[in-house]
Amino acid sequence: MGNQIWWLLVLVFVSLVAAVDGYEEEFRRRDGGGSGSGSGSGRGRRNTEDWLLLQEIEHVVKSGGGEMNVVRGFGGKLATAPMNIGFITMEPTTLFIPHYCDSTLILFIRAGEVRVGHIYKDEMVEKSMKMGDIYRISAGSAFYLMNTATSQRLHIICSIDTSQSLGMHTHTIQSFFIAGGTYPISLLSGFDHSTLSTAFNVSKAELGKMLTRQDDGPIIYLSSSPSLWSKFLDMDQHQKLTHMRKFVQIGMEALEEEQPTWSLRKFLFRMFGKIGQREDTKSKTSNGLEPYNIYHRKPDFKNNYGWINALDESDYSPLGHDDIGVYLVNLTAGSMMAPHINPRATEYGIVLRGGGTIQVVYPNRSLAMNTKVMEGDVFWIPRYFPFCQIASSNDSFEFLGFTTSASKNRPKFLVGANSLLHAMRGPEFAAAFGMSKARMNEIIEAQRESIILPSARGGRAVASEGGER
Ligand SMILES: *[C@@H]1O[C@H](CO)[C@@H](O)[C@H](O)[C@H]1NC(C)=O
Ligand SMILES: *[C@@H]1O[C@H](CO)[C@@H](O)[C@H](O)[C@H]1NC(C)=O
Ligand SMILES: *[C@@H]1O[C@H](CO)[C@@H](O)[C@H](O)[C@H]1NC(C)=O
Ligand SMILES: *[C@@H]1O[C@H](CO)[C@@H](O)[C@H](O)[C@H]1NC(C)=O
Repeated sequence: MGNQIWWLLVLVFVSLVAAVDGYEEEFRRRDGGGSGSGSGSGRGRRNTEDWLLLQEIEHVVKSGGGEMNVVRGFGGKLATAPMNIGFITMEPTTLFIPHYCDSTLILFIRAGEVRVGHIYKDEMVEKSMKMGDIYRISAGSAFYLMNTATSQRLHIICSIDTSQSLGMHTHTIQSFFIAGGTYPISLLSGFDHSTLSTAFNVSKAELGKMLTRQDDGPIIYLSSSPSLWSKFLDMDQHQKLTHMRKFVQIGMEALEEEQPTWSLRKFLFRMFGKIGQREDTKSKTSNGLEPYNIYHRKPDFKNNYGWINALDESDYSPLGHDDIGVYLVNLTAGSMMAPHINPRATEYGIVLRGGGTIQVVYPNRSLAMNTKVMEGDVFWIPRYFPFCQIASSNDSFEFLGFTTSASKNRPKFLVGANSLLHAMRGPEFAAAFGMSKARMNEIIEAQRESIILPSARGGRAVASEGGER
């Protein structure tokens, strides 16, 4: 019966007719393409029924000092611009050397501490961040990450919004390493060295060191870094800015020479020009340069069975630039997030701790996915698809999410004391289910909790059905 209720409501509330064609097409495409290789948590057991789990992983960076892996999101009609999810790990005392990307990143510091340096409105900004902090780095903005801790590893999870990308979807993320040596190869190495030494105002010998010594990959140990890097990190903000700018400018020119067909100038103008102006007007209300800590916040919803923190642009204004929302949910063992739909957003979830089951229903009312997830898994829920998350019966379930809408996209709950059924109840509605009004009310009112619901009564283990259909 549950499925029928969801389906009916989806029909009533959302006009899907046009969209369904798109869905079918996506499904066929996806089925044809197979289910990809093993997932991040190293399990190859997934099949096509788990297509809402994102399992296509690209190892973007791997070097002694750390790595970055990107889980590829799903594009096409179901989610116009795919969002990819990045996982960055950095060993103690390492530097992720300056570079810029063609995608906007929203960082979530999962564990450890980091110093993030980037250019913001012609200023060099360096911020220290700790666990739970959320921070945005816009596309085209050169930045570096530094783990200065002596013993603690740094873990960052980030959303990679590809809507402004150059459209080269062969990569999950296009990074431009302005700095580098033999690995990564610097964009600069294409230039005539005397031009460069003038541009940087350093001797050719020093330049030579900078362009060839670095072969440790994009994440390097601070102790082993060439003197130029230590020098860079010791510079004051103003000097750093000057250098970062030179990096970007020269890098851009190098790229244009290589690929004259991309209009990188236009791209840059879009990044720095227009967005810069938008940021001007917005930053008056709140300073977008301070990270926002998602743990230091009164939960937006809390009951005995769990809590939800949901950030949108009214909490952290930079989220408004790309229309991305961030949320964090913790369900106690056995509890469930009531079945709901996102009327305005596609949602990407990353399991941080514990585990549970994700159930999703297709618009054609069959079960789209009912699968167990564990730490490190990434799932996504297309807009309009009814779904619920259920914590496993012996462990709490903590997950982080990114939604593609930063405005108040409040999910619509289909079950529970605040559900749409309450708003819609009436004789017509009961008739639609072929029930009397009294019987209908009995059913609707049986659940007194809302949003996060307790575990199944009488020991029925809802959460243990994962993986079966
Ligand atoms: C280049 O560096 C020298 C000292 O190393 C300094 O005196 C000079 O002002 C610099 N020139 C520019 C254009 O920055
Ligand atoms: C989530 O809830 C569990 C108890 O259900 C608790 O032990 C855990 O600390 C919570 N996690 C966070 C981040 O608050
Ligand atoms: C619903 O659509 C999916 C994907 O196209 C398909 O696999 C499934 O069989 C459909 N279910 C029904 C009941 O039509
Ligand atoms: C919960 O149970 C599963 C097996 O059903 C087990 O793998 C997992 O370690 C258990 N978790 C905890 C926190 O006991």
